[in-house]
Formats: sequence, C-alpha cells, structure tokens
Amino acid sequence: MGPRSFRVSVALALQVLLAMPALAVGPAQLEPSGVNISDTAALQRGARLFVNYCLSCHSADYMRYNRLAEDLDLGEELVMDNLVFRDAKIGETMSIAMDPEDADAWFGKAPPDLSLVGRARGPDWLYAFLRSFYQDDAGGWNNTVLPNAAMPHVMWPLQGIARPVYATHRVGEREVQVIEKLELASPGSMTPEEYDGAVRDLATFLVYLSEPAQLKRKSIGIWVLLFLAVLVLLTYLLKAEYWRDVH
Ligand code: HEC
Repeated sequence: MGPRSFRVSVALALQVLLAMPALAVGPAQLEPSGVNISDTAALQRGARLFVNYCLSCHSADYMRYNRLAEDLDLGEELVMDNLVFRDAKIGETMSIAMDPEDADAWFGKAPPDLSLVGRARGPDWLYAFLRSFYQDDAGGWNNTVLPNAAMPHVMWPLQGIARPVYATHRVGEREVQVIEKLELASPGSMTPEEYDGAVRDLATFLVYLSEPAQLKRKSIGIWVLLFLAVLVLLTYLLKAEYWRDVH
C-alpha cells in the first residue's frame, strides 16, 4: 500500500468512526431519563408499579421474588404482601398466567418478556415510550415512540389522556401532517411531574431487572479501584526502595 492509499484509508476509517454516534442515536434525540439504579427507594416504587400495571401482561422470567427481597432491601414478608398477587411462592420467578397464544389473539402480538428490555432499549427510550401514549381520533391508543404499538396505555388513570397536536410539513409538492407534540386533554390522578417521576422509577426498575448484578458490580468496582490505587502506591514505594541501592 502506497502512502497515498494509506492516507485515504485512514481518512475513510476516521469518517466511519465519526459517523458512528449519529447512527447509534437514530433520528430523534431522547430526553435523558435521569435513571439512577443505586436509588433503592426508586427501585422499590418502580417494582410496585411494575407488579400493579405490567405484570398482568408481561413476565420477567429471569427474576425471582426472593432476589427482589434481597436487592431492594425489602424483607421476604413485605415482598409476599405487597408484590406477589398471584399464587406464587417467594422462590418463584415473576412469570404470568397468560397463555401466549391467547395474548396473540387479544393484542395481535404477545407482550414480550421484559427481563432484558432495560438493556435492549435503554433507560431513555423506556422513559420516552411510557410518556408518549396518546389517544387517536378513532379513540384507540397509539404511541409516538413505538408507532402503532399493540400495547394499550395501561397507566392512563395516572397520567390522564393525551391528544396529538399536528403540524403541517412540506415534502416537495406534498403536505404531510406530523405530530408536533402531545397535549394532556384530560388529567389523570397524578400531575405531569408526578407521572414523569413514576415513569422514571419504573424505568429504573426495568434497568435493574435487566442486570441485577450491576448493583453489586458498581459498589464492588469502587473498592477494586481503591485497592488498585493503594497497590500502585505500594509498588512505587517498593521500586524506590530497590533502586536506592543501585543509584
Ligand atoms: C394489556 C397488556 C399489557 C400491559 C398491562 C402492559 N403491556 Fe407492555 N406491551 C404489550 C404488548 C401487546 C406489547 C407489544 C407491542 C408491540 O410491539 O406492538 C408491549 C410492549 C411493551 C414494550 C416494548 C418492548 C419492545 O422492546 O418492543 C415495553 C417496554 C413495555 N411493553 C413495557 C410495559 C410496561 C412498563 C408496562 C407496565 C406499566 C406494560 N408494558 C404493561 C401489552 C401490555
């Protein structure tokens, strides 16, 4: 490879690298969710919302109730009283009774297991998705983040009912209607700020659910770094000691 073609390949590789963040983000920027999974109170509130509003359709087949009890600082009794509604034992997974075939028939699509959705979609997407349901003109539910989602807006009693506000855009000769924003047409039991907080809690719980070990991994990580810092210091002192005789 001559120097010129080398330069061209380097320039191309750089361009691909520079374009990568843009590809990863996609067309619309998502608002930061502010999810912090070391906030145990948020995790507890999120777990409560999850079992009340989501576990009827979605399972979390990789999570056991007794692990929740331990990770969320809740005793097993509290978990049994507040988070387990069906006839399940504390060592069982958060599965559901719904038959996937029935679900398919009811919703046109079986609700997916949510064990890994926190990793697959990320906190910002979940935060946006659960705040983007609206009622269309025909009275059905739709969602601006997942258009034509088969999932109804199950938390509408909390949020209220949002309606779309359209804007007209010109694409060449044609005029197209796009949703500019959503407006709350009738309020729910929560204020918009309270609802955002509830969704943040729920997203926090889903992110935890997708990798429960991250709670421990992160707190152990700090100790590992401290240990390495002490080790570096000791190694340096040892080196200074050895080289003293040589110099
Ligand atoms: C009435 C049943 C039902 C309930 C209750 C329900 N969902 Fe869903 N959900 C669905 C269905 C059906 C889909 C598939 C939507 C699609 O892909 O069109 C879905 C999809 C999703 C997705 C998208 C998964 C993906 O990556 O595509 C997420 C996230 C989700 N639900 C979260 C929740 C949360 C959080 C709750 C509780 C607040 C909840 N759902 C309650 C039926 C339900």
